Amino acid sequence: MSKKLFIKTWGCQMNVYDSARMADVLAPLGYRPVDEPDGADMVILNTCHIREKAADKVFSELGRLRILKDEKAEAQDGKMILAVAGCVAQAEGEEIVARAPYVDMVFGPQTYHTLPEMVAKASRAAGSVLNTDFPAESKFDFLPEEATSQGVSAFLAVQEGCDKFCTFCVVPYTRGSEFSRPADQILVEAKRLVAGGTREISLLGQNVNAWHGDGPDGSTWGLGRLIRELAEIDGLARIRYTTSHPRDMDDELIRAHADVPQLMPYLHLPVQSGSDRILAAMNRKHSADDYRRLVDRLRGVNPDLALSSDFIVGFPGESDADFAATLKLVTEVGYAQSYCFKYSPRPGTPAALESAQVPEDVKEARLQALQQLIGAQQVAFNQGFVGRTMPILFDRKGRRPGQLLGRSPWMQSVHAEANERLLNSIVEVRIDDARPNSLAGSVVTGDYASTAHNPVHALEARA
Ligand code: 5AD
Ligand code: SF4
Repeated sequence: MSKKLFIKTWGCQMNVYDSARMADVLAPLGYRPVDEPDGADMVILNTCHIREKAADKVFSELGRLRILKDEKAEAQDGKMILAVAGCVAQAEGEEIVARAPYVDMVFGPQTYHTLPEMVAKASRAAGSVLNTDFPAESKFDFLPEEATSQGVSAFLAVQEGCDKFCTFCVVPYTRGSEFSRPADQILVEAKRLVAGGTREISLLGQNVNAWHGDGPDGSTWGLGRLIRELAEIDGLARIRYTTSHPRDMDDELIRAHADVPQLMPYLHLPVQSGSDRILAAMNRKHSADDYRRLVDRLRGVNPDLALSSDFIVGFPGESDADFAATLKLVTEVGYAQSYCFKYSPRPGTPAALESAQVPEDVKEARLQALQQLIGAQQVAFNQGFVGRTMPILFDRKGRRPGQLLGRSPWMQSVHAEANERLLNSIVEVRIDDARPNSLAGSVVTGDYASTAHNPVHALEARA
């Protein structure tokens, strides 16, 4: 009999990927995804620990779910298995069990391939199953093939974990040390996705450009080489990767941006701060000038490349001059988009112990100033596309009937009036209007079939 599975996901794209894989692991046990937690047989909260606010949400959500769990039990409609997964589970597993003993399973990002065993234990026993080990085996060797198609645009995890230990960040503690999936496993999975209709693959990793693996010829491949191999897959039109560290951008990966047409001209390359003093305190191991030089090299090989970044304001000890250096870097580099965060002290990380914490009002003022600058750059970037025609991968229906929504090569959301048969294909669209967060366009009439099936359209569009 089919059981209802509700998964709520917070945080990064890796969590989105993990949630889909959890559903795959649970499918043979009869669990089918549903859109609402009411009456579900299992609810999984896949959590994020990166900033305090993200973690806080978990406990308030658990309070709401407890009521649904009790209602199901009272209605004698079976047991709702309540699970907390992801990085909060990894970092605060014991606290969750203590504060919310009605939670049945608590497990970290590296153990969800053992979900069937955990479910068996949770169904039998009272009390919570806590599984926050870093097992010696890789979950990727045990996960089943993807049960459901991810659709035209898919994620593929190639790397996980982090050894960089930026002093503000929990990832090395919650996701564990850097691990690269073997190249052959990745290529098999990519081919399977494409055979199932995927046209765009986003390679995922906390430190995706630290990926390395053994090639069939015995040499060690880096991400640039892997991307070249993926580009050989017939029908795969677009390749992206995220998130990268500036220190791991090697020559081959930079070259791939010059001559792999399927590699989209958009790169998320977080710098965090423009001040060398703060970058050193963050343990980033690169200077602001190192980053500028890297951007110059990337744009040297591909002038069309658009960049995005993450920034933290109010890192301990950040002075007005340090913050001014960040604004200066942003002004010089020019971003298509960026994410700005107020520094949030995370338990167990070195920066949380610093005494020179920046007051909240200063953090807030800096956030506003940076967001204003970034916002203006985003508007200018988007405005620059008005009147241009570019290939859009329509992957969703729009909010209004007759409208489709898709992505440009530069990650912009683009909507256009379009026939539904163009869903899941790549179509030339002329941009008529730019808003801060999206573009509006019109489908350029012509031979849709040729644009929809031409894997090298992006090169033509760029040339
Ligand atoms: N406080 C604020 N922002 C953080 N990030 C990571 N840790 C923290 C923290 N403690 C941001 C970084 C990272 C992004 C995913 O989240 O900018 O690149
Ligand atoms: Fe966190 Fe730094 Fe690793 Fe990125 S590189 S995951 S910010 S420790």
